[in-house]
Amino acid sequence: MFFVFEGIDGSGKGTQARLLADHLIKKGRRVVLTEEPTKELFTGYFTRILLRSKDTPDPKTVALMMAADRNEHVKKVIEPALRAGEIVISERYFWSSFVYQVLQGVEEGFVHYINRDFPRPDITILVDVPAEVALERVTARAHGNDGLIQQFERLEFLRQVREKYLELAEKEGFIIIDGRGDPEEVHRKVLEKIRDYGL
Ligand code: TYD
Repeated sequence: MFFVFEGIDGSGKGTQARLLADHLIKKGRRVVLTEEPTKELFTGYFTRILLRSKDTPDPKTVALMMAADRNEHVKKVIEPALRAGEIVISERYFWSSFVYQVLQGVEEGFVHYINRDFPRPDITILVDVPAEVALERVTARAHGNDGLIQQFERLEFLRQVREKYLELAEKEGFIIIDGRGDPEEVHRKVLEKIRDYGL
């Protein structure tokens, strides 16, 4: 079973991914909790440097880097875990490219093409919060990032990202969860929604 959590920066998707992983582990399931850009693979390392660079990369370069990192992620982490019967929970996946890189101006067909070989998640959960709420949370985190990350966290951009996620959710059948409120409350809503899948 392959789960993906998506949402705008500051939506709380990371917290929700972790809470779901903890819940499933407590129930005796074997779970791999992972994320994109990856943390342990060299492609993720370079991608994160690129995102924080003051020398803003061309959007197509970002799309290609994300896809390269995803390829490593799929081959080295996701597919082996799925083959071993483990539950994979990824914070972000190709949907992030369909939203962020397309909003940055990369042709949609190109983004689809470079992501076409990757396995489709079984369940995608969109943690939805208004842009203002997300921005408040991100600002509270105050991680002092610069480069593209800062652009990605601007209010107007966050609004567009949220709209694009909601559009995609409709088209692709994501589970949409209202991400406002405290993490435990949001987590309960996630559990309610996935109960139908026997988890
Ligand atoms: P980062 O902010 O470093 O992650 P974290 O949530 O750990 O702080 O990087 C995530 C950023 O990368 C986020 O702003 C969205 C962007 N991103 C894309 O633009 N395209 C993608 O395909 C992915 C996976 C992420």
